[in-house]
Amino acid sequence: MKHLISMTDLTQEEIIEILDMAEDLKEKRLRGKMTDLLKNKSLAMIFEKSSTRTRVSFEVAMSDLGGHSIYLNSRDIQIGRGETVSDTAQVLSRYVAGITARVNSHRTVEDLAKHSNVPVINALSDLEHPCQILADFLTIREYKNRLNGLKFAWIGDGNNVCNSLILGCALVGMQIAVACPEGYMPNPEIVAKGRELGGDILITTDPEEAAADADVLYADVWVSMGDEEEREKRLSDLENYQINSNLVELAKPDVIFMHCLPAHRGEEVSAEVMDGPHSVVFDQAENRLHAQKALLMKLMA
Ligand code: CP
Ligand code: NVA
Repeated sequence: MKHLISMTDLTQEEIIEILDMAEDLKEKRLRGKMTDLLKNKSLAMIFEKSSTRTRVSFEVAMSDLGGHSIYLNSRDIQIGRGETVSDTAQVLSRYVAGITARVNSHRTVEDLAKHSNVPVINALSDLEHPCQILADFLTIREYKNRLNGLKFAWIGDGNNVCNSLILGCALVGMQIAVACPEGYMPNPEIVAKGRELGGDILITTDPEEAAADADVLYADVWVSMGDEEEREKRLSDLENYQINSNLVELAKPDVIFMHCLPAHRGEEVSAEVMDGPHSVVFDQAENRLHAQKALLMKLMA
């Protein structure tokens, strides 16, 4: 049995295998051809935080694969009234073939995996968001026909999505440049891990240095879920890190703009870039579905 808690739970070969499966599933879905490989299997989905894409793409993925999903808002299940994560994992394992969880603390999803007898998938924690990166890589491959050797630029807050991208880029051989203001740098242990994996990782405070000759420019919100109290400070500290046409000009002419969404036009990205010709954000959002279908098949079929 295997869990997906951190991006490093997958090898390069497994990432490529999932992307190939996702590509195939996407093409088949377009032709109305579905498989029912997860028939009679259920996925429990624990959410401690809001979600549009992750929740809907997992539910549709299970339905497309002939299975069933159960949305569990953490306020409604007994975890919210003090039942332990360990007991919850053991009980759910008696009913379902997989558990996905979006949690405040990364520790919670690690504890779920430790005590579960079925695969556990991290649907976003404060430290990582590996499911997002599978969809991102599927999208990059669609536009660039490869991953290896490209230059990826992250501009903004070095958050959970950034952490998983650093690890993912190291695994697939993509160079990554991360530009953040002091105080918003990615997790140093993650950066060290990425380098240990052979990653070509540049960490800078200069967004122009990161964007120069990039194949991909990537933005995420400046105020992640859980950071709401720091909103005013964050908007001011990050104001020079907006992806706008000045940064697009510095990148390769065929650069793609990506954003895991939800987006805030006028904050981390200008409306012009978000809705402009370089933006692939809705393909990227769609690919959450195809990538997660492949992931569910790999872990649960
Ligand atoms: N990108 C992403 O995970 O979106 P949601 O928060 O809507 O699930
Ligand atoms: N960094 C964002 C990602 C949302 C998908 C957050 O954690 O809120």
